[in-house]
Amino acid sequence: MIEIKSVTKQFQNETAIDYKDIIFESGKSYMLLGASGCGKSTLLNMIAGIMSPTSGSIIIDGVNMQEKSQKEKDKFRIKSIGYIFQDFKLINDMTVMDNIDILKLEGIDTQNAPKLLSELGILEKKSSKIKHLSGGQKQRVAIARALVKSPEIILADEPTGNLNFAIGEQVIKELVKVSKGKTLIAVTHDERLGIYFDEIIDMNEITSGMKDVISPKEVE
Ligand SMILES: Nc1ncnc2c1ncn2[C@@H]1O[C@H](COP(=O)(O)OP(=O)(O)OP(=O)(O)O)[C@@H](O)[C@H]1O
Ligand SMILES: [Mg+2]
Repeated sequence: MIEIKSVTKQFQNETAIDYKDIIFESGKSYMLLGASGCGKSTLLNMIAGIMSPTSGSIIIDGVNMQEKSQKEKDKFRIKSIGYIFQDFKLINDMTVMDNIDILKLEGIDTQNAPKLLSELGILEKKSSKIKHLSGGQKQRVAIARALVKSPEIILADEPTGNLNFAIGEQVIKELVKVSKGKTLIAVTHDERLGIYFDEIIDMNEITSGMKDVISPKEVE
């Protein structure tokens, strides 16, 4: 279970996001919807321990992540969190399998990769270079790479942002299928994809909106 409690995030430019309390239950899939800039990526980054909240806490399975050192957070992320980025973060000149096997450097066992690639329908591409794949195929590689370690939590930031609706819908169906039994939190802009998730969370309802914290004096 992931608990977001009284979390706020403030950046140097003084934009502050005030998140309402929210609980993500273990084993369920969630779709996060919300306007651009409302704080979806920031929330995923804070859950992943890449960013820290300015105040409040993120509690994962009873453990307050803010009480951990950055090193401990990194260790937790490597072991327990699969993060899928919109821009894939794959290495173009390397093959599909090498992009996954690179995780061995972090001590991750990748023997599950062929099974996952097969479930995602791209096993025959395992020796192809990333640069020779379509957008949908690249997204599937990114999903396989995030899931190969069997993480308990899967975070996906606009996994279909670069794909047309039909391919995006297919990728979401596959993502939900391979994430079964895990906690999946996926950001998408397309409400039509909500039917594939257990819950839809409208970020406009869970953030109290961005507060402009610039004092009136400075504005004058
Ligand atoms: N590193 C940063 N430095 C300063 N401001 C930031 C930083 N990251 C995010 N912000 C600000 O915080 C707010 C929320 O950003 P975030 O990326 O979480 O939005 P989002 O909901 O993911 O938007 P989108 O749908 O466009 O991806 C924005 O106003 C953004 O400008
Ligand atoms: Mg974003």
